[in-house]
Amino acid sequence: LEPGPKAVMITLNGYACQRRTPLQHHNTVLTEALLVLAENAEFCEDEGRNIAFKRAVSVLKALPQAVRKMGDLQGLPCLGEHSQRVIKEILEDGKSREVETTLQSEQYQAMKSLTGIFGVGVKTADRWFREGLQQPSDVARSGQRLNHAQQAGLQYYNDLNTPVTKAEADVISRIVEGVVQEVLPGAEITLTGGFRRGKQTGHDVDFLISHPEEGREEGLLPKVVSLLETQGLLLYQKTTRNSYLETKEGPARPPSNMDRFERCFSIFKLERPRHSTSPEEPPQAACEESPRGEDSALEQLAGERQDWKAVRVDLVVTPVSQFAFALLGWTGSQLFERELRRWAGQEKNMSLSSHALFDNKRKQYLRASSEEEIFAHLGLEYIPPCERNA
Ligand code: GTP
Ligand code: MN
Ligand code: MN
Repeated sequence: LEPGPKAVMITLNGYACQRRTPLQHHNTVLTEALLVLAENAEFCEDEGRNIAFKRAVSVLKALPQAVRKMGDLQGLPCLGEHSQRVIKEILEDGKSREVETTLQSEQYQAMKSLTGIFGVGVKTADRWFREGLQQPSDVARSGQRLNHAQQAGLQYYNDLNTPVTKAEADVISRIVEGVVQEVLPGAEITLTGGFRRGKQTGHDVDFLISHPEEGREEGLLPKVVSLLETQGLLLYQKTTRNSYLETKEGPARPPSNMDRFERCFSIFKLERPRHSTSPEEPPQAACEESPRGEDSALEQLAGERQDWKAVRVDLVVTPVSQFAFALLGWTGSQLFERELRRWAGQEKNMSLSSHALFDNKRKQYLRASSEEEIFAHLGLEYIPPCERNA
């Protein structure tokens, strides 16, 4: 059979870090459906299935055109039998019964809203669901013991579930830049995460902070945080110290997603821009605490609108010698990172983390001062941030 002009077979590599995955793609109907199943698998703590669906999604995202018939999938990697069944159903009927049923299910809906609380993971959400809680307001009323993160998560639930815009990220960049310069002149901040990949919105804003002179960055974060606090800019923060140590034998344990940088998970209090031109009182320093009454946890759930917005911000401090690794590790996407580490381990016998790259065969660290060098060490073609949206 002579392939017609449209029957071009697309070939894609098996690892997401070998492919270019743009932000905008041609198969959103399929990927959104499969992502529901991926998410549901995560809620059921079925890691294997979660990853399998995410890999399938990332292959569809990398295709240069829309899938119209099953034959278009021929030769593509990572599309398991289950994913193909779902795709087939959608191509034929416009929707998948399994996806529809999942979306309707009480468990999926409850897990979705409960894990949407900052500080609440799948395990906690699942316990609450089995105790009969389904929404944040149920949790607030139930008198559950909550840690500080979860209390903040409930209190600012609506804001934290409203996407952060690029414009808001830029305002926060300027605030962080100002405070960092005041604490340590010459230090540099870099916007990472989804915004570095070109996203126009995100669930948080991620920054790397470094200084061109190795060692000068030590102990920087507590000072930055305390200055932000004095200025009334923080609603919540949890800072952890750097605990990374290089050893001759290489990384002590297999690299996991958690790294050991000095870092701060925080919630910023971001002034909303004023639109009125009337000469009101000068903008107040945003430092007035809301009363810590019984109802404070429900403030946002009740839909009260303030003149500020709660925004999640991650601050990570890195010694300049590790900067390229931290930048690569914090730019994402999450799947892209996972695939990079899998590639390093399985194909190169190397261990990649956000701190370093270790060659397990030669028993040595491979230095790099740019992301390009790390891709080269790994024997991969360089993929720019905007094409790491796997
Ligand atoms: P949005 O925030 O929703 O726009 O997506 P994002 O891609 O920015 O996700 P997120 O802020 O959760 O994480 C940004 C990148 O940092 C992702 O690649 C994560 O894998 C990575 N990341 C998140 N937490 C950690 C961590 O504790 N350690 C390391 N090394 N990486 C992390
Ligand atoms: Mn982010
Ligand atoms: Mn983040």
